[in-house]
Amino acid sequence: MKKTFYITTPIYYPSDKLHIGHTYCTVAADAMARYKRLRGYDVIFLTGTDEHGQKIEQKADEAGLTPQEFVDRIVEGERGVKDLWNLMEISYDRFIRTTDDYHVGAIQKIFRKMYEKGDIYKGAYRGKYCTPCESFWTESQLKDGCCPDCGRPVIDAEEEAYFFRLSAYADRVRKLLTETDFLEPRSRVNEMVNNFIDPGLEDLCVSRTSFRWGVPVDFDPGHVVYVWIDALFNYTTALGFLNERYPDSDYEKFWPADVHFVGKEIVRFHSIIWPAMLMSMEMPLPKKVFGHGWLLLDGGRMAKSKGNVVDPYPLAERYSADALRYFLLRDFPFGTDGNFSNELLIARINSDLANDLGNLLSRTTAMADKYFGGKLPAEQASGEEDRELVALAKALPEAYAAWMEQYAFQNALAEVFALISRANKYIDQSAPWKLAKDPAKQPRLGRVLYNLAEVLRVCTVLLQPFMPVVSEKIFAQLGVSEDLKTWDSTAFGALDMQAELHKGENIFPRIDPEKELAELEKLLPPATQPAVPEPEHEAQIGIDQFMETELRTAQVIACEPVPRAKKLLKLQVDLGYEKRQIVSGIAKFYTPEQLIGKKVVIVANLAPATLCGVKSEGMLLASGEEQVRVIFLDDQTPNGERVR
Ligand code: MSP
Repeated sequence: MKKTFYITTPIYYPSDKLHIGHTYCTVAADAMARYKRLRGYDVIFLTGTDEHGQKIEQKADEAGLTPQEFVDRIVEGERGVKDLWNLMEISYDRFIRTTDDYHVGAIQKIFRKMYEKGDIYKGAYRGKYCTPCESFWTESQLKDGCCPDCGRPVIDAEEEAYFFRLSAYADRVRKLLTETDFLEPRSRVNEMVNNFIDPGLEDLCVSRTSFRWGVPVDFDPGHVVYVWIDALFNYTTALGFLNERYPDSDYEKFWPADVHFVGKEIVRFHSIIWPAMLMSMEMPLPKKVFGHGWLLLDGGRMAKSKGNVVDPYPLAERYSADALRYFLLRDFPFGTDGNFSNELLIARINSDLANDLGNLLSRTTAMADKYFGGKLPAEQASGEEDRELVALAKALPEAYAAWMEQYAFQNALAEVFALISRANKYIDQSAPWKLAKDPAKQPRLGRVLYNLAEVLRVCTVLLQPFMPVVSEKIFAQLGVSEDLKTWDSTAFGALDMQAELHKGENIFPRIDPEKELAELEKLLPPATQPAVPEPEHEAQIGIDQFMETELRTAQVIACEPVPRAKKLLKLQVDLGYEKRQIVSGIAKFYTPEQLIGKKVVIVANLAPATLCGVKSEGMLLASGEEQVRVIFLDDQTPNGERVR
């Protein structure tokens, strides 16, 4: 029986059109799925949409549609999610929508099962409640202590809700994260353990009564299932778990998943909550969760709510899905964040695809046409220059596979393109145009062209998972038959000696960067920051004068309002070498809870002052006047460090 491979992307929220960040993850999963198919695996590649929840309900309402109409439009409509995946050549095997009946029914059964087991119980949810908006908020969601939606005061309130006994699984989840390779990259493990498990896992509220757009709890219909429970189990319902849509045998055959690709912001759900629920359900755990990095725009995460998203549509339409796919996986290491820019995209297309790959193909096929009418001669002679090129080509598949198995797409592609560059150099070294002048050197010329064609073929086999469309075009120009497009044929020398190649269309025309950047500029979202008028400036100072201000890092260890001084907060800060009291006029902008524990910068050598009768021994750095923003530092910053 064939080996199986089951890979998933997150199921995306169809609350807006998807952007290049979603495309990034889906393209990576697609490359992996295609690679595994090339390796002979029986693959299921699952993607889909996460369609329930309050946000979708609200968005639909704003659009004057029912939630179902709204999500249908985004998922199935013109230039919607499915259209985007078609455009991007995404070869998903299944597409799950959480509003699909089979999924809804299965979620109800799953919820009931955990309830009957005692892992889901009814309790009281306590939080901050905005009565006019009928919404619960957590402390951290509040804005200036008020409802973030309407700005009105909130009250302490509680409502009936179901909870999942997450706390009961804390030890097993900790072991899973620290003692196995479940979560990668490994750097994300500490983050999970330090920030979530060590402080203590609390039971998770898994039902809501404040809105209707969700899976109803079938034994208590006032409640809908928390959207993350609904969403996470998609990975199993899409395999037929507890439903009739797909056969049970798929679940038997493909579960546990080999890998879930997820963005780093949802690693917590996938590496803590998801395994805990599977443990509760006594189901096998996925073999791996890979938390990939974000694509940033101008250093910030792209988000529709921030209005700084890049639309993949025009990019793929202008430069081809292949080029965009290649760029995304070649420029950004999968595990860490990277900055997206049109300059990088164009530079990458020009350097790798037009210059290196495109040129190699057009030079090779043009010479074959010119010197041999396309068909390479039977008599061929090897030469000194061949050795290094052939050795590199022979080593390539294994090196490539090693990177692919680690989801290091960038490195796998770098290996392929190192050989492509080497082959271009080989042309210069062996100078076929000189060989062509001497009839006695025809056999040598034949071999040079054979080696080039064979290098191109081997590279193209390995590029198929990344650039499926152009790979076929290259194969066609090289006259490669189906059996020589397979993994087993990557051994150098499999191509027929008398291969027949012909020059065809230019696969990646060079892009004029200046012209294209100007065009793309028009497509980019308008700057989100309002124009800032020129401020009044201070007189210039020298560095010595600046250094007279002793700025240091500190942690806020306590904070309380100052009685009868509405604007002031009294903070205790720890400088490491001593503790200080600082009074700051920020009560309008921050609650004490928002400051306690935070790392800040203070002016440590400011003369003490008394404000409203309270002593202040320093000053907190903050920006703005109408809206004051305290400068917070990274949580890891040591106390008492000099800032300069
Ligand atoms: N619906 C949940 C996931 C449920 S999975 C059981 C969700 N959806 S989402 O629409 O917000 O998509 C999040 C995912 O999209 C990220 O985890 C990541 O894979 C991808 N990305 C979204 N923005 C991204 C970037 N700016 N950069 C890279 N990937 C990004 O969360």
